[in-house]
Amino acid sequence: MIAVKSVDMSGDDDLSEINKEIEALADGEICPQLVQYYGSGTVGRHLLLSMELMHGSLDKLKPLSEAAVAVCMREAIIGLTFLWTKYKKFHRDLKAANILYSLRGEVKLADFGCVRSLMGSTARMAQTYVGSPYWMAPEIIKNKPYNQMVDVWSLGITAMELITGKVPHSRLVPTLAMAASLEKPEPRLGTQYSANARNFVEKCLQKDPSKRKTIQGLFEMTYIKNAGRLDGWLPSKAFKAGNENKKSSSKSKSKNKNFGGKAKGGGIMFGEDLKQEKERKKYQYTAYRRSRPEIDDI
Ligand SMILES: Nc1ncnc2c1ncn2[C@@H]1O[C@H](COP(=O)(O)OP(=O)(O)OP(=O)(O)O)[C@@H](O)[C@H]1O
Ligand SMILES: [Mg+2]
Repeated sequence: MIAVKSVDMSGDDDLSEINKEIEALADGEICPQLVQYYGSGTVGRHLLLSMELMHGSLDKLKPLSEAAVAVCMREAIIGLTFLWTKYKKFHRDLKAANILYSLRGEVKLADFGCVRSLMGSTARMAQTYVGSPYWMAPEIIKNKPYNQMVDVWSLGITAMELITGKVPHSRLVPTLAMAASLEKPEPRLGTQYSANARNFVEKCLQKDPSKRKTIQGLFEMTYIKNAGRLDGWLPSKAFKAGNENKKSSSKSKSKNKNFGGKAKGGGIMFGEDLKQEKERKKYQYTAYRRSRPEIDDI
């Protein structure tokens, strides 16, 4: 069985380029911490991506224990390292909804819709707006050149999301959340959490990207070094959440990137949830997707 994601690409100029990029991913070396893409195709302005079918995404399991999050973070770190070094790409849309798990406890980064090639030069900065506002690094919000360290920021936000069950500033609409991200001190875990977990989050969430720990540095932190085995972290709700998710996604899933769809993970949303989701998608895909064609050939 495979999963198929349908993306409305009406706003994007060159569908064939994106198609080619996905084909390259499908032919590339397999990494156990990255969801495997099998191929892609187009139907009109829709891009269809076929990929490995997983059981569900980590956002459906939150909050998770610190120990479980440590396992997920270790796997995410390995996946990111592979993405940056082997594929010469960085993620730019890391969040719990884009980290998938299997019932064997495997953890894999997904959603390469936002992944762009660095064209062999890790020193080269990208300047394309993309990603989800609440997980977005301050340098992206400020429209500054940025590099792979934006993924480290998003990793820290994702760790907080998974441990506390809440994304920092998520009560605010996206514009205010982004302003808060710039103006307020970096989000931190409270003292009820362990020093190791707090330290990990602190090293990821530094407004100045040069002050963030490198991916290798993060891998060597006690919180990650002490992380357990893949077959021991899944909570019992993982099985339920996965099944709920499958009811709606079945063998395939689809989504309109212009926020036309009402399905969110496990079902249909109503009222405030739907309003909030629409708002997020609007900012994610419309207001903040300001590509700069002259340098967006990476
Ligand atoms: N390969 C897959 N196998 C199983 N479930 C998947 C797979 N890919 C996605 N899903 C499920 O579908 C949900 C929606 O995924 P989708 O990528 O369309 O939206 P999203 O992750 O919420 O937002 P974004 O478009 O920003 O990535 C995921 O959260 C996950 O639960
Ligand atoms: Mg996704």
